[in-house]
Amino acid sequence: MPRQIVLASRPSGWPTEANFSLTEAGQPDLADGQVRVRNLFMSVDPYMRGRMNDVKSYVPPFRLGEPLEGGAIGTVIESRSPDLAEGDLVLHMLGWRDEAVLPAKHAQKLAEIEGLSPSAYLGVLGMPTLTAYVGLLDIAALKPGDVVFVSGAAGAVGSMAGQIAKLKGAARVIGSAGTDEKVQWLREIGFDAAFNYRSAPVLEQLRDAAPDGLDVYFDNVGADHLDAALVALSNYGRVAMSGAIADYNATEPPPGPTNVSLVITKRLTLRGFIVSDHQNRLPDMIADVSTWLAEGKLAHTETVVDDLENAPAAFIDLLRGANTGKMVVRL
Ligand SMILES: NC(=O)c1ccc[n+]([C@@H]2O[C@H](COP(=O)([O-])OP(=O)(O)OC[C@H]3O[C@@H](n4cnc5c(N)ncnc54)[C@H](OP(=O)(O)O)[C@@H]3O)[C@@H](O)[C@H]2O)c1
Repeated sequence: MPRQIVLASRPSGWPTEANFSLTEAGQPDLADGQVRVRNLFMSVDPYMRGRMNDVKSYVPPFRLGEPLEGGAIGTVIESRSPDLAEGDLVLHMLGWRDEAVLPAKHAQKLAEIEGLSPSAYLGVLGMPTLTAYVGLLDIAALKPGDVVFVSGAAGAVGSMAGQIAKLKGAARVIGSAGTDEKVQWLREIGFDAAFNYRSAPVLEQLRDAAPDGLDVYFDNVGADHLDAALVALSNYGRVAMSGAIADYNATEPPPGPTNVSLVITKRLTLRGFIVSDHQNRLPDMIADVSTWLAEGKLAHTETVVDDLENAPAAFIDLLRGANTGKMVVRL
């Protein structure tokens, strides 16, 4: 019998495995237009932490007692739609389960790419890279010659943001991450400088890495990183506000930046964005990324956890920083 992970309770602060439970799912007959998909990989993403709270946001909260949702890649094993056939590889949003039943129109048919795992569609060819691409090029309006700082730099979005900045002509790219191993990897994949934010205050390390100031900050973290970046940014600096992962498990309202008046005196632009508003840029991202991959100019990695029953642990580990590159669960 196929299995699924349901939301057993809502976390207060850090999620624990007790907030999830593994249950048997039924095998309903297909209605006209539906397909049954055997999931191969599912994504765990930081935004899912927000969906565990019962609050209104840009996506509705997960429902108690119901299976969680999220990006997944699978193979069609039964079809009652002329648009998809048995054996087709698809991307859809019913992860956290062995099998998904959904309208064919909610599944996107994918090409199998030689040399790439299908999980690439959850990472380097998917939503995280589109976030990096749009955030840098459209939201922060990257220009050749810019000095760029990326936080959360060894993760799925950050590792792409730093490399795309270099490929699009940034003069210098600096990344921060939470372990020395991640910092070493960032240097290997082309960051000009990288530091471990746990080993000394962010501002101190950022000033050393960018003595002449920053033009662009790609913010995945918020908190101490945003505070430091506001100080390090040059006049007319631009910030793409992608995420604030340092605050996702906060139980009290997190303190705001201590130096907001710098936004005025330095004429800074801070702009938030949500990747799903920018699907029109997917073809441009895929074209650029495919070229860079073929030319060997873009490095990518995944942290792969096996089996659906370990998906809650993979998600919690993602929030703690156990991943380098994209965190995925192989089903
Ligand atoms: N705006 C959008 O549409 C959009 C779309 C996708 C993702 N995002 C955001 O982009 C960010 C990265 O997402 P992702 O999917 O690429 O995840 P990810 O970076 O692959 O994984 C999360 C990483 O966050 C880091 N982290 C956790 N707590 C931290 C803290 N207190 N301070 C600094 N770093 C911390 C950990 O790495 P360390 O070991 O380095 O701590 C961890 O590996 C998240 O904020 C996410 O919400 C936004």
